[in-house]
Formats: sequence, structure tokens, C-alpha cells
Amino acid sequence: MTQTMTVAIVDDEPDMRESISQWLVLSGFRTESFASAEEALKAIGPDWPGVVITDIRMPGMDGMAFLKRLMGQDSGLPVIMITGHGDVPMAVEAMRLGAMDFMEKPFNPDRMTELAKKATNARRITLDNRALRRDLSEGQQVMSKLVGASPAMDRLREDILDLGQADGHVLIDGETGTGKTLVAHALHAVGPRASKKFVPISCAAFNDEALATRLFGPVDEGLPAVEEARGGTLCLEDIEALSDPLQARLLAFIADQGAPAETRIIAISNARGEGRRAEDSLRPDLFYRLSALKITVPALRQRGEDILSLFTRMTDQFAEEYGCEPPQVTAQEAAQLLQAPWPGNVRQLINVAERAVLQNRRGTGSIASLLMADGDETPEATTTEGKPLKEYVESFEKMLLDNTMRRHKGSISAVMDELCLPRRTLNEKMAKYGLSRGDYL
Ligand SMILES: Nc1ncnc2c1ncn2[C@@H]1O[C@H](COP(=O)(O)OP(=O)(O)OP(=O)(O)O)[C@@H](O)[C@H]1O
Ligand SMILES: [Mg+2]
Repeated sequence: MTQTMTVAIVDDEPDMRESISQWLVLSGFRTESFASAEEALKAIGPDWPGVVITDIRMPGMDGMAFLKRLMGQDSGLPVIMITGHGDVPMAVEAMRLGAMDFMEKPFNPDRMTELAKKATNARRITLDNRALRRDLSEGQQVMSKLVGASPAMDRLREDILDLGQADGHVLIDGETGTGKTLVAHALHAVGPRASKKFVPISCAAFNDEALATRLFGPVDEGLPAVEEARGGTLCLEDIEALSDPLQARLLAFIADQGAPAETRIIAISNARGEGRRAEDSLRPDLFYRLSALKITVPALRQRGEDILSLFTRMTDQFAEEYGCEPPQVTAQEAAQLLQAPWPGNVRQLINVAERAVLQNRRGTGSIASLLMADGDETPEATTTEGKPLKEYVESFEKMLLDNTMRRHKGSISAVMDELCLPRRTLNEKMAKYGLSRGDYL
């Protein structure tokens, strides 16, 4: 996102600030003037979209100390020092500290324009590169946290990549623990706002008055959320908890922004049953604005083939964390995992995986007992609604192959024996599930 650069002019003499600013504005630059280094530091932080022209001799913090502070927070910021007569040694020292260049008083206006142009161009390139790097790395990182190869997960990933680039506000819904918060982060991280802030606020975690303050201010320290998220993403969790007066203020804020919105809102709703859904608890005009784009994160029981791959991935991770072996899931246990209702979705599955690893380390307990302790229903009592049989069978088959290969450390003949499979069938199935013998040796 290429933006207009600002030239900050820092000088204690008002006439000097004025004349530099006038000249630069005439030459097409945007300027901002500060009477002291202290004042300028309040406005200029890391990644500041602009460059600095500063006097060296100033009361209070002088130009050299100011330069050190600026370099400390962002060494890529171009700073041009203004030096008086006979300050050349100081100018040399400033260059050593990281200043880009210096101009001697009285100014040569053309040199000033030239320096400002060089500095703002350099700054733009630096910031674009930083944003690009961040987009790539954060986006990839967050996306790689989303485990699962079911068609539903593939669709979810595609939706994230598409909607991440779009401008409209987004409503994310889905049951508890399905990954809504993770999806919101991913949406921000893969889009053009990635270098700006992602500000998450839970509407259910504050009382009304505190929430109003946190969102719209005035706050004692820092910025209210709508300001903090400017240009970035404001993520409102538990949106259905928003009171009527706050819904009205949020609506006004959205209307005020116009389109495309400067600050993107991602609202998260917990579809915990009737009456708690965003449709039912939000005023229609606000709901309409917030749900311009919508993502529904599917429940875990609706993506059977992810259950076992997530479980294996999580037990591997916990086993590494606890320095022990991951549990070997028996065929019967795999069936139980597949049929469990998972009311707490991925979060619950992660809990079960962690406890399975700890149990395995102690050498006691079974996965069935974990599932029973966790849910309010027994595994037997559950439905298979929404899961095609084929999906079950395939994920089951894959896990069984994976487990057997692990146990036999990649010995094809041992696996053929145990599973009574001819070599060709085994090879075909391994290829189908993307398993490779080399990973087990
Ligand atoms: N597809 C996934 N792959 C790997 N981990 C996941 C996946 N989905 C969710 N998780 C993990 O599961 C946990 C719960 O996810 P998250 O907090 O995003 O759910 P949520 O829907 O926001 O829950 P809540 O409704 O309670 O706010 C987190 O630890 C998250 O990292
Ligand atoms: Mg959440």
C-alpha cells in the first residue's frame, strides 16, 4: 500500500519552520511542523510514513539526541540535519549516527527539494518492502496454523485468501472452538492491511460503560480501539453482546467512514443456538452492514477427515513438548474419535490430545474415557449427521496406515502382514493418502 509521505520539520524557530514548509509545500510535499524534538517524538514512531528535517541546535533535546532516539526506534528513517555555520564536525558525527544528509544554512532551495525527494522516495521503498515482507511472513504463518485437508477446510482457506483482499466488513460465525478467532487473524494477515494493527475486543468481556470507553474513548492511556485500528482491522468478538446504544454508535462510526472503509471491521458471532445469533440480537441495519461478507467456520463433526489428522498433529506436538512418545491410536479409538460429537470443536480436540499424551506418558487411561469425561454425551450416543460414510472410511484408513507404518518403522512387509494387504494395494493406498515410506524410516 503506497501512501503519501510527510516531511516533518523540526525547528524551534517559527520563521525557519514556516519558510522550509512553504517551500516544500510549493514543491508538492506534504509537511508537518514541530517546535521541539519532544513534540515530534510523540508523532513519529517506527514505520512512520515520512522523513524528518531537523535543526541541530535546539533548546531541550537537541538534534543529535533526537537523531539517536529516531535511529533507535527505526534505523531506516531518513533524517536530514540542518546545520549552522561551523557545525560541520557535528554534521559529520550525525552522518555517522545514521543521518541521511545535512543542509547548511542558508539553504539552497533546490538542494532542499532534491534531498526531500530522495528521502521520501527511499522511505516509500523501505516501507513498501517492510509491508510486503510482513504480509508474506505473517500471512503464511497464520495460514499454516490452520490444519485440515477436508473439502470444507480447503474452501475456508480459499475464502480467507479471497476475502482477505476485499474491502467490506466481515461477519464470522460458527460454533465455539471452531477457529473463528484464528480465521479473523488470518483474514487480516493475508490482506493489504497486514502491516496495520489488528485490534481484538471482546464485546462480552466488558460492562457497557467500559466497552464504550474502550471502543470510542476517551481512554486514560493510549488510544480508543477505533483509533488504534485506523487503517487496519477492528475485530469485535461476541458481537451479539453489543448493547443497543453501542450498536447505534458502531453504526454511526461505520456510516461515517463511508466506502471503502478505512478501518475494516471483523465481527465474530458465536452461533450457540437460537436467540444468540447475530441476526437475532443485532439491529437489522447494523447486521446488514457488518455481514457484507460472511464466513461460517464449520463444526469439527462436519469435517470428519480433519479429526484424525488434527488429532495426530496435536498429539505429535504435545509429545514433543512433554518429551515423550505420542500415543498410538487403535482402530477402535480412531472410530470413537470420528464419532464423538465434539461440542467444543477444535479446542476440545486439542484438550483431549494433550490429555491423551499425558496419559500415555503415565501408561494409563484410554481415549474413550477422555471423550466421555469431556463431552456430555457418550461416543455411542452420537449421530453421524453431515459426514459422508466415505469420508469416515477414508480418514480411518489413512490413520490406520499411518499408525501401522510408524509402529513398523516403514517396513512394508511387516505392514502388509499385519493388515493382510497385497503390496500393490498398500502402495496405491499410501499414494492416495500422500504417505511416503521415507517418512517412517
Ligand atoms: N483448523 C485448525 N487447525 C489447527 N488449530 C485450530 C484450527 N481451528 C482452531 N484451532 C485452534 O483451536 C483453538 C480454538 O480456536 P479459536 O479460538 O480460533 O476458536 P473460536 O471459534 O474463536 O472459539 P470461541 O467461540 O470460544 O471464541 C485455538 O487454539 C486454535 O489455534
Ligand atoms: Mg474466539
